[in-house]
Amino acid sequence: MNKDEIYKNKEVKEDFRFNRQVAEVFDDMLSRSVPCYGQVMDLSTRILTQKLQPGDTIFDLGCSTGTTLIELARRLPQEDLQFVGFDNSAAMIGKASSKAEMYTMKDRLNFIEQDITELDLQDGGAIIMNYTLQFIRPMMRQEFIKKIRTFLRPGGVLIISEKVISHDPMLNRTFIDLYLDFKRESGYSELEISRKREAMENILIPFSVEENLTLMKDAGFSSVETFFRWFNFSSFVAIK
Ligand SMILES: C[S@@+](CC[C@H](N)C(=O)[O-])C[C@H]1O[C@@H](n2cnc3c(N)ncnc32)[C@H](O)[C@@H]1O
Repeated sequence: MNKDEIYKNKEVKEDFRFNRQVAEVFDDMLSRSVPCYGQVMDLSTRILTQKLQPGDTIFDLGCSTGTTLIELARRLPQEDLQFVGFDNSAAMIGKASSKAEMYTMKDRLNFIEQDITELDLQDGGAIIMNYTLQFIRPMMRQEFIKKIRTFLRPGGVLIISEKVISHDPMLNRTFIDLYLDFKRESGYSELEISRKREAMENILIPFSVEENLTLMKDAGFSSVETFFRWFNFSSFVAIK
């Protein structure tokens, strides 16, 4: 795995982008920047095991290098399930496709370069969208969640994970400080942390847990719940 040293040595003046340089180190970046990534995957697999039906397709919106989708395909070995990942970064899709090539049941996996706001899908058994809604413009989010609900069959599952804010200013600060500790413990320097935060400032816009739940409820999902929380990160499940 290539080490993420993007913000180590040079000042990066521009906004963060999911380009080739990021795709090369993305798996390391994710494992050192997203707390409990494996645990969320574990819990998501349990939900999907309960809710999927034979012949279902699982869509991953903002799949990046395919880590989650490939792992889900491994953990859900029923041959009649199909897994399709979408991402608008050519570099990410390139990485995902070459990782899938190494997987024995690669025929069940498909990675497609596509803007997820322009998708038109149907009859999905599940949609996974982890740490990606936060990059969709806030004003577009309600319409977008409403639209992706139509990609699911009745009873289909939506799983969303996001960085979140708290409306309590004191606890919000505390959760951010605890997250900064996590990044330091993952080996990022103060300089790397502050440079990345600056590059992300206009790009990653987190909602609160309540705002995310409301998006899903107002889109018409019948059951909506938080299933995981780690300070300023949260995962949600919604059933159509
Ligand atoms: C933080 S990463 C997602 C991580 C991934 N879901 C996982 O759990 O391993 C966000 C991804 O969303 C993609 N993305 C952001 N906006 C997008 C859009 N409008 N259409 C497609 N992909 C998008 C980025 O290219 C990036 O790969």
